[in-house]
Amino acid sequence: TIVPVILCGGSGTRLWPRSRAARPKPFLPLVGERTLFEATLDRCPASKGFAPPVVVTGRQHLEHVEAQLGGRTDARIIVEPAAKNTAAAIALAACRLPEDAIMLVCPSDHHIGRPEVFAEAARAAAQLAGEGWLVSFGIEATAPETGFGYLKRGEPIGATGFRTAQFVEKPDLERAKAFLAEGVYAWNGGIFAFRVRDFMAELAAHRPRIAAAVREAVAGGREDGARFHPDPQVFATVESDSVDYAVMENTRRAAMVPADMDWSDIGNWQALHDALERDAEGNAVRGSGRAELVDCRNVFVDSDGPRVSVIGLENVIVVVDGDDVMITSAAGVQKVGKLSGAVNQ
Ligand code: GDD
Ligand code: MG
Repeated sequence: TIVPVILCGGSGTRLWPRSRAARPKPFLPLVGERTLFEATLDRCPASKGFAPPVVVTGRQHLEHVEAQLGGRTDARIIVEPAAKNTAAAIALAACRLPEDAIMLVCPSDHHIGRPEVFAEAARAAAQLAGEGWLVSFGIEATAPETGFGYLKRGEPIGATGFRTAQFVEKPDLERAKAFLAEGVYAWNGGIFAFRVRDFMAELAAHRPRIAAAVREAVAGGREDGARFHPDPQVFATVESDSVDYAVMENTRRAAMVPADMDWSDIGNWQALHDALERDAEGNAVRGSGRAELVDCRNVFVDSDGPRVSVIGLENVIVVVDGDDVMITSAAGVQKVGKLSGAVNQ
């Protein structure tokens, strides 16, 4: 069986004012009715052979996690005493699972439009992980994004997989453009399949101090019902590093399965607009739905109540949440996280 390991970390400021420190991106229903966290759980049901999920999260998100677990009373939660990035978060889960378990590491803040393709890729990835590969989900690269990892497709393995000939986390723009031009690179979707003992062996080989400290923090941890609390003093000493830099760039056992699953990390308001259904003019409205758009093109309105009326604008995003109104051009979405409202929330 496959154990979903669901990562609930960071607070998204780029989707301010909807996403806030007190209610960050995974816990919002951004596409459809379900929150991104709920949709992540929905993709890994027992009926498709998934084991009960392990959620790794911080104390500050615990309330949302428990409220949104819904019927998943079988879920286990690892409560991080501090945020130490994904290498440590995944290692915490690994240290709580049997050596032979296959972990499917899932970020909880992505949108996947074709869950059936995800499930197929998960099966293929789990199979390769069972053969000792450290498997990434590959997403077709369509732009020279610098916020993603890049996977160079190597020789085929099995029916649908490939060796990852090179893994480059967050290249600069020049390199990203070169990768795109070469045509043999995919984006790393941030979803991984690992067998527990292989992941821990590679972590121990490339980041021995993280592996040792996490093992010690788990050994000294304490259970509290479905929750597990690693030793906070020991965990405080763990180095912050992402799994991409710590393990995936260094391992010689990297593989990938391509997954054409309508994936988006919803990294900004434009990406959310792109993930939603639009009308013939390219406009989209979500939230309370009280919006009137006249002679508008590619306008996106998200309001939690107040009616928004817009005339004659193009490529504009309007977001209303409580006392905050945020209006940006489509081109300005990368700067949202730097607004004082987003910084000082
Ligand atoms: N529990 C926990 N603790 N979760 C964490 C922590 C932590 O300390 N840090 C990050 N996470 C969670 C985030 O909430 C997110 O769901 C996931 O782990 C990935 O972290 P990000 O910080 O969003 O990583 P990224 O987007 O910069 O890059 C990763 O994802 C890209 C695809 O979205 C990399 O894997 C890239 O290679 C990849 O392309
Ligand atoms: Mg991310």
